[in-house]
Order: sequence, then C-alpha cells, then structure tokens
Amino acid sequence: MCSAQPQSFQIKGAINMKELSFTEPYVNEPVCWKGDNLSLQRSRFVLPQELEEALKKVLQDEQFAADGPVSDFADVVHNQLDWESGFCIVDGLEKFCVDLDEYVRVTECLGEMLGTLVQQNLAGDKIVLVRDDGHTTENPNNRGHKSSDGLGFHNDRCDIIGLACYAQSDIGGESTLVSAKYVHDIIGAARPDLLAQLYGVFPNHRRGEEREGEDPWCSLPVFASVNGEFVCRFVKRFIIDSQTLPDAPRLTAKQIEALDFMEQVIEDPDNHFRFKLREGQVLILNNHVLLHGRSHFKDKADKKRTLVRVWLANKQSRPLPEAFIPLYRNVSAGAVRGGI
Ligand SMILES: [Fe+2]
Repeated sequence: MCSAQPQSFQIKGAINMKELSFTEPYVNEPVCWKGDNLSLQRSRFVLPQELEEALKKVLQDEQFAADGPVSDFADVVHNQLDWESGFCIVDGLEKFCVDLDEYVRVTECLGEMLGTLVQQNLAGDKIVLVRDDGHTTENPNNRGHKSSDGLGFHNDRCDIIGLACYAQSDIGGESTLVSAKYVHDIIGAARPDLLAQLYGVFPNHRRGEEREGEDPWCSLPVFASVNGEFVCRFVKRFIIDSQTLPDAPRLTAKQIEALDFMEQVIEDPDNHFRFKLREGQVLILNNHVLLHGRSHFKDKADKKRTLVRVWLANKQSRPLPEAFIPLYRNVSAGAVRGGI
C-alpha cells in the first residue's frame, strides 16, 4: 500500500533521489504499492479442494468443470488482479509436478478458468515453457524465456500472465515485480515534465513478430489512461532497438531522459517485490499495472528450471489505448486480444 505521507527515495545513478522531496500524496489504492511495504500474505492463495479435484478429473480425461466453487475462485483471483495488488501466488499444484505433460494440462485448465489463452509466438503456441534452451538475450533474435539470463523489468503482450513453476533452479531465478502505478506516481511527483513525455508515443521494435505487411516497429505510449483506467507498457530495450530501423522516428533527448529516469525508479530495489517460486506455485499477474523481471539462474544438475507460461485475455479486462492496436489488434474492454 502507498503511504500518503511525503517521502524521499535513494536510487543509484546520476540522479540522487534522496535530495528530492515529494510533497504530492500518492494515490491511495492497493495496486500502487512499494515493494518493501507489501505483505505477501495478502496476495497468496491456496488452491481450493474443489479445484484440485476438478484438475485431477481432467487428467482422467474428464471435462474441466469450471463452475461452482471453481468459478468463485476465479472471481477471487480477478478481484486480486484488478482491485488489489495486481498479482497473486497460488499454492497447491505440487501434487501435479510429477509429469510435465500433466502439469502443462493442469496449467492450461487454470488459464481457461481465468480467460482465453492467446498465442505466444508466430508458431501459434498457447503454452510456452520458460527454461534455458541455450538462448542468450544479447542476440536480438533470441527470446528471454529460452535463456538463463536475468531479465529486466518489462511487460508482455497480453492482459494476464500465468507462470506455473514445475521445477525450480539451483541458484537464482527469482521473480521480481514492481507496481507501474507506483513508479508512475513517483515520476509525476519528482519530474512532471518527464511524466508528460511518457504519455506520448515511443517507437518500439517489433522483433520480427509483426505480421505480413506490418511495419517492423510501432508507436506506443508508456503510460495511458483510458476511461480512467491506468495502463503501462514499458520494454525499454524494444524502444532503444527501434533506433536501428531507418524508418522509425528518432527519439528526442527529452524522451531518452524520461526513459532513463523511469528506469532508475524501476531499478530501485526498495520498490521491488522479490520472491522465488516454489514447485507447484503459480504466479498470476495483471500485465497492465505491474512490470515483471527475473534474476539470472543456474539449473540443478538433474532437472531444468521450468515454468509453464500462459498469456490470457479476459472478460474483465480494461480498455486499452488505440495506439495499442498494432500489438493487441482489438483494444475494447473484455475482448479476446493480445498475443503474437
Ligand atoms: Fe515477460
């Protein structure tokens, strides 16, 4: 939860945040949290018995019954994503961690309980395994989810992200979250001129995920408000990479200053919520209000760290700015949208 009191912050780098005094009260809403003030207990749920039984039946080739208490649990999760911290960790899938195919099926059902799975690559995959397949993020054609590299804070291309932990690493592999709303409000209090810049559009490299006939870049705002609903989209690397494309607009000095300042606020460890998923835990997060990242990891000798990822569209979703059409295709609230 945010404090309504003036605060000071210290961030490593060129700007000494400690010297800045914020007198504007932060918006007192649950999604606007500072990492070191967040209580995990309020974002943690145990898989209900009825849902566990429904998942077991699916593995016996029965239909997944997403009604009754199962549907009630979906409502609890959506409430958490939209009106509370913006994420939750669900405990209780460890019984399914015996067989990867079964774990994938169970994760798929959880996704279907919460929304519609959308494809995560041009090959059409709606289930992706996040594990080290030898990629490195230094190669722009590689994908971060196939590497063991640490991943900086960013958004994905969907409404909801689900990450179900099948096997954890030996060292590292911690998940990190930061509240985009909190970052937004700090920037607004410290540098309203830069916040105004972030409501403008920035060219984003599309990394070969554009469809035929589309440009290899698109213009997106970092922050937007649609019918009073907050939205953030920040993948700094894609913005910087856009400058390698001759037809993409050039970033101005002020835009670069705004991006760098935002990155400093995001990278302040005091603002992060950091945790390491255990086997059988599922992280579910609202991609429009939180940024996520991951620390570098080293696999165990006998088992690769493996998270099963789903990207979801959901009926409860907020409207998105029209500038997001190149990414989401449909920006209406509640639409099936996003993905690749
Ligand atoms: Fe991601």
